[in-house]
Amino acid sequence: MQAVTSTLSGNIRAIVIDHPPVNATSQAVRAGLLQAIEQAVGDDETQAIVIACAGATFVAGADIKEFGKPPLDPHLSEVIHAIESSAKPVVAAIHGSALGGGLELALGCHYRVVDAQARLGLPESTLGIIPGAGGIPRLLRLAGIDKALDMAAGGKPIGAAEALEAGVADALAQDDVRAAAIAFAQRLLAQGQGVRRTRELPAQACEPQVFEAARARFQASHRGQLAPQACVDVAVRSVASSFEDSVAYGRERFRELVTSPQAQALRHAFFAERVATKPAGLPAEDAAPVRKAGVVGAGTMGTGIAMCFLNAGIPVVLVEQNEKVLASSVETIGKTYRNDVAKGRITEATQRARGDALTPTLQYEPLRDCDLVVEAVFEDMGIKRQVLASIEENLRPDALIATNTSFLDIDALAAGLRRPENVVGMHFFSPAHIMKLLENVRGARSSPRALATTQALGKRLGKVAVMVGVSDGFVGNRMLARRTRECYFMLEEGALPEQVDRVLCEFGFPMGQFQLNDLAGLDVAWRNRQSRLDRLSEREAACNILDEIVAAGRLGQKTGAGFYTYDAQRKRSVDPAISELIVRNAERRGITRRAISDDEILERCLYAMINEGALILGEGVASRPEDIDTIWLNGYGFPRWRGGPMFHADQIGAARICERIRHYASQAGELYWTPAPLLLAQARDGGAFHAR
Ligand code: CAA
Repeated sequence: MQAVTSTLSGNIRAIVIDHPPVNATSQAVRAGLLQAIEQAVGDDETQAIVIACAGATFVAGADIKEFGKPPLDPHLSEVIHAIESSAKPVVAAIHGSALGGGLELALGCHYRVVDAQARLGLPESTLGIIPGAGGIPRLLRLAGIDKALDMAAGGKPIGAAEALEAGVADALAQDDVRAAAIAFAQRLLAQGQGVRRTRELPAQACEPQVFEAARARFQASHRGQLAPQACVDVAVRSVASSFEDSVAYGRERFRELVTSPQAQALRHAFFAERVATKPAGLPAEDAAPVRKAGVVGAGTMGTGIAMCFLNAGIPVVLVEQNEKVLASSVETIGKTYRNDVAKGRITEATQRARGDALTPTLQYEPLRDCDLVVEAVFEDMGIKRQVLASIEENLRPDALIATNTSFLDIDALAAGLRRPENVVGMHFFSPAHIMKLLENVRGARSSPRALATTQALGKRLGKVAVMVGVSDGFVGNRMLARRTRECYFMLEEGALPEQVDRVLCEFGFPMGQFQLNDLAGLDVAWRNRQSRLDRLSEREAACNILDEIVAAGRLGQKTGAGFYTYDAQRKRSVDPAISELIVRNAERRGITRRAISDDEILERCLYAMINEGALILGEGVASRPEDIDTIWLNGYGFPRWRGGPMFHADQIGAARICERIRHYASQAGELYWTPAPLLLAQARDGGAFHAR
């Protein structure tokens, strides 16, 4: 099949790119386009040209798999230059997504007709690179500097209406975009309107402060990342010098960034998410339709989960035994949507539709026509088992039950039920309607249909859904528990919360361990600790700093004090009372505190997680290292530009990690530090988690 074909109808030539899955500008597309445009320009019968795409989308960018490999001719900028130089008007017909090189290609066309549902963007910075084919100098000529920087450095795509308003689109199409683009070209010819080359438009003059402000903004929003700042550099150059010079400069910066460790990590993250959300052996075709869902338990989690369904257009029956809790949940949902309308995020019609799709009830009986019910009651095995039995009693035999738990054993929860094959875990993260991550849990008896349904449902809910096995804390919380343990041990040994948190933030986490604890509520962490006291080691049980802080009534942000103190605006400050409490705790327990280096803090935090990740892989609780990376990137704020914990482990090397784990074992004992068999094997054989 040819990647690019060209057909003449009347005096308009349609050049069509057909290169599944996303019409990426791989070498075959670039060469085909160049040949087609040269032919069209030289052909007397052609008076105008339309560039369109077959399949689900316009060009979604460069072929990311080609990055880091030797470039193949022709370069995209050469193709775009040929298009823009055409003396015959060229119109892009955009549907689906025009992203990266795809938008650069469209910006090189003289006009753009855009399907009303399409998205346009320069997401290169999310891959650690910058637009390398004139995207920034062209976009700022069309849309102005602010919009160009928001799109390129911020990496956020815009919709069709915004593109029209910004001058990036010339017309919107409601249905057949290719036909609309041909009609647009015919109108141009009829009106005698010729080409309009973006490169010939003037660049907006701009004060240096605008760029300085942009730099500061992207430093704050994209901490530690190189590409957004490089986008600002290219914008500065685009205003200060000629179009040709700024394109050449952008290309040079692209080349420098494309092989950088950040770009490698971000490319890994992109493909890891696509691998992780498609577990082997669970084709989407096996998924049962979910036309109506139930949620049982209207606390914080249940309320958030109900909103996930409503937001995806799935009607929900929300069951709660306590009338007051139910009323408060309905009020929270109503308030959230009222706020969304006020902020222009949804229309009033959508708000009404969502309100109509919610059935709050004190009875189980209305669940009878639901296709899937999520149980979201208190995290207690006995209570959950009772509720699950009541749900099953009221459901159709083919309906599925998902239990939302962060730690409990799905198999034990399903054991008493008549149809355990219909039971799966869906571990949502709080706030459930906002957090992207969903850990779907495979029980020993869960049917392939049940599992395929939760995966497909995750995608429909807009989540990044990763399938994991049964284990205490599944994948994310199990690894976090290891990091948490080390953080508390380090407080006893000599560190303070602000030092640990600073080290984690400098690594790139949005917040440190103790800031996170304060946000989630120390009473939650304390209750969790109490429920496991009988399973803790002697040292963990004795490490009671948290108990003392909670006993002082400091429950975190919600009480204005936890590991830190907070003012009315929740601004955090270090509290000397906490440093004192920690020092006195150590004295009382006969521990001699020492200075702990930042390097030690980082190693202990990361290697504890990586080692647990290696155990999780060895046990098959996660099927692939990509699954673990995806979980940490989407649920726990692991810096995306470091690729995830297992990718990061490969950068350090298994031999070094094993050596440091042995070092910490010599200090704290093998109970806490024993290299996982997988890491030992990698250290021995020179292996890695990800193929190099
Ligand atoms: N290169 C290579 N493969 C790509 C790709 C790309 N740019 N974009 C998507 N794919 C692949 C995916 O890996 C996936 O493959 P598998 O089915 O084998 O897993 C397949 O296409 C479908 O992708 P999705 O599952 O993501 O499908 P979707 O419908 O949910 O989303 C999309 C489609 C919006 C286009 C999304 O894939 C996307 O955002 N892609 C990346 C777009 C991007 O970042 N473009 C900029 C690239 S950089 C650039 O363009 C710079 C330059 O020119 C020099």
